[in-house]
Amino acid sequence: MKKIAIAMLFAGSTLLMADGAAAYAKCAGCHGANGEKAALGKSAIITGQDAAKTLEQLKGYKAGTLNQHGMGAVMKGQVASMDDAALQAVSDHIAAMK
Ligand code: HEC
Repeated sequence: MKKIAIAMLFAGSTLLMADGAAAYAKCAGCHGANGEKAALGKSAIITGQDAAKTLEQLKGYKAGTLNQHGMGAVMKGQVASMDDAALQAVSDHIAAMK
């Protein structure tokens, strides 16, 4: 039983990482494959940014309350259809970038 639980735990975390990478695919066009670009010449470089900070920003964009460089609406459109789990997964993915 214990072994199965551990195996499931590993499978689960691998899935989560894959989800984060998949969710980030649509972000890469603006932010770069490793978050190294200033999106549309405006955003901060997000490579390796703390996951909690990213999550808070993404929730702010989704709620329409965050607009740091006058382009919050662009980001709102990006995250509008993502649920909390997807926002968390993509935030973790960004935090792991180098
Ligand atoms: C169409 C281009 C575009 C796409 C695609 C895009 N972004 Fe952005 N992103 C921006 C712009 C422009 C800003 C600056 C918004 C503002 O004015 O606050 C930004 C800001 C951000 C910030 C805050 C950075 C800062 O300046 O502090 C994060 C984090 C972020 N985006 C993550 C993402 C994630 C995750 C995705 C994919 C789900 C994504 N973005 C997709 C253009 C884009």
